[in-house]
Amino acid sequence: MVARILSCVLLCGSLLTVCAVPAGTQEISSSTSKNRADQKVPAAPVASEDPSRVRQTIETPMATAERLETPGWWPTKHSAPRQDFVGTAECARCHATKTATQLTTPMAHASTPASGSSVLSEHARISRKVGAYTYAVSSGREGTIYSVSEDAKSTSEPLLWAFGVNQKGQTYVYQRNGAYYEARMSFFKSLQDLDLTPGHDPEMPASLEDAMGRLLEPSTLRLCFGCHTTAATTSAGFDPSHLMPGVTCEACHGPGAEHVALMDDEKTEKGRLAIFNPSRLSAVAMVDFCGACHRTLNDVVEMATTGVENVRFQPYRLESSRCWGDGDARLTCIACHDPHQQLVREAGTYDGKCLACHVVELAKKTSDDHPGKRCPVAKENCVTCHMPRVDLPNMHAPFTDHRIRIVKRGAPYPN
Ligand code: HEC
Ligand code: HEC
Ligand code: HEC
Ligand code: HEC
Ligand code: HEC
Ligand code: HEC
Ligand code: HEC
Repeated sequence: MVARILSCVLLCGSLLTVCAVPAGTQEISSSTSKNRADQKVPAAPVASEDPSRVRQTIETPMATAERLETPGWWPTKHSAPRQDFVGTAECARCHATKTATQLTTPMAHASTPASGSSVLSEHARISRKVGAYTYAVSSGREGTIYSVSEDAKSTSEPLLWAFGVNQKGQTYVYQRNGAYYEARMSFFKSLQDLDLTPGHDPEMPASLEDAMGRLLEPSTLRLCFGCHTTAATTSAGFDPSHLMPGVTCEACHGPGAEHVALMDDEKTEKGRLAIFNPSRLSAVAMVDFCGACHRTLNDVVEMATTGVENVRFQPYRLESSRCWGDGDARLTCIACHDPHQQLVREAGTYDGKCLACHVVELAKKTSDDHPGKRCPVAKENCVTCHMPRVDLPNMHAPFTDHRIRIVKRGAPYPN
């Protein structure tokens, strides 16, 4: 596994043009194809060929930074002008059904101005003493005030942004002297209380100032807003006053103005090409696509996040499964999750996904079509045993381990 990752990193690092599929020009077999044979490794381009036009059907995983260097759209790309984004309400005119369900997903609400946070409106005052410091978040007509006090000293700022819809928790961002800060305390659903924001130093801060939060460098800030909002950073730079909160249609499909204009003119064929349709991506690129925010295999290798904390990075975990092989459309994120719908919670509904590859009946042998062996233990609810929930202490909640495997009692968490 390690060898495979390293070779991918080296390959993509040194031969970017070979690995890269220019977004928007993918020539890839349909994602519904069940035939691995459709996905042969392409020959390296010959010198006379323009590498950007080489047809690719399979590739190695890439780091998001590399994807963002390739032409065309990719989630979290910052180069489009703001006026090219039209907003979800426009998409709803013609894609009403997809929009109605997408708006109910946590992704659509991945951030909100603090004044719109339901966590804060449902908890008019939250307060917690940690060591010498007393933290409080109080919401009222004057907005939401975040304060820290120690004995008679106290400091406060209004909260500007709430990140995360509180599936597990919610983290706050405020401004001080023009700079952005991440609050040291986050709200956690399982605690119904404040606790340390993941990534912050648990040591007692030396000053009230440090106890409030940590400075978000402009580059980090752009990343946060890049994954939790739409169009915060555009060709004009970072501008939170014109962003769209949450992961909207255009966070995934790219700016839609041209598509909408062409569709209004009933130029359907041209219009279809003017919007990014991820279903044309290969299996590996499809997982990297979600990985632009959920972190790709190579992103995690580069970040070198080890231990249970990497359970949050589903693309990395999934592609470390033996099931994944070199990539297969039956096991991409969208094979199990429709990004326009809420997460399905009934374990049994995932059985069909496993049985697209695994045989169930004793009589059935594995085949090219069904390369996965039969389970000697059970015939249903596969994910309950093979995709275990892993407790993540700093999030005070369990995450589903996307590394599909045989779980042995007492065995350490496999990195
Ligand atoms: C004026 C009507 C209209 C509006 C507004 C509109 N679309 Fe479409 N869209 C269509 C039509 C028509 C098609 C082609 C038929 C189909 O696939 O439903 C299409 C197709 C698509 C496709 C698939 C493209 C392909 O490869 O076939 C995507 C993705 C898409 N739209 C996204 C969006 C997004 C995102 C927005 C908002 C930014 C949007 N649309 C706004 C009419 C519209
Ligand atoms: C632009 C960034 C971005 C992209 C691209 C993205 N996600 Fe997400 N996703 C998020 C964020 C942020 C959250 C956390 C939302 C929250 O809970 O506040 C999330 C949460 C989720 C959840 C959890 C929902 C729940 O009920 O807790 C699922 C499932 C998911 N994403 C699937 C996908 C899939 C599948 C793709 C690729 C098709 C994808 N995401 C692409 C940013 C993104
Ligand atoms: C590279 C993309 C990315 C960046 C950068 C990022 N996030 Fe997220 N964030 C996600 C995704 C994807 C999820 C959903 C999966 C998970 O919980 O790990 C998430 C989840 C969360 C959650 C939990 C949401 C919930 O409903 O429980 C919080 C809180 C959060 N992020 C806050 C932040 C803050 C604050 C920053 C910046 C300081 C930030 N994130 C930066 C992608 C990102
Ligand atoms: C998290 C990423 C994400 C978000 C957000 C998202 N989509 Fe999609 N969309 C996808 C992916 C991946 C596909 C291709 C797979 C599929 O068909 O489900 C897709 C496919 C589509 C298609 C083409 C379906 C087809 O039959 O070919 C349309 C139309 C579409 N999306 C519209 C929308 C609209 C409208 C919104 C906002 C309300 C939206 N999407 C939000 C990721 C996203
Ligand atoms: C084989 C099916 C399968 C595939 C493929 C899959 N998931 Fe999941 N995913 C699940 C199941 C099962 C859950 C847990 C659902 C529940 O809470 O009951 C889940 C939960 C999640 C969650 C919610 C947080 C958590 O840990 O519980 C996120 C986010 C997520 N998946 C993202 C992704 C992304 C991104 C991909 C692609 C890399 C992906 N998933 C691929 C089955 C799958
Ligand atoms: C794309 C096809 C495919 C899908 C979908 C798939 N698997 Fe697999 N799985 C395989 C293959 C092939 C192997 C054998 C890999 C090997 O021997 O190297 C395997 C191996 C396994 C193993 C043994 C792992 C080990 O460490 O020995 C388990 C357990 C497993 N799969 C469970 C599942 C479950 C549960 C699901 C659904 C959540 C699933 N698989 C979905 C193809 C798949
Ligand atoms: C109750 C827990 C449980 C459930 C539910 C379950 N499994 Fe298993 N599975 C196991 C255990 C434990 C093993 C290891 C058995 C052994 O090594 O003797 C195993 C082994 C496997 C293997 C490896 C077989 C081999 O010969 O190497 C595969 C593949 C597999 N399961 C797939 C599945 C699929 C697909 C489903 C759903 C149809 C499923 N499992 C449901 C517990 C479960």
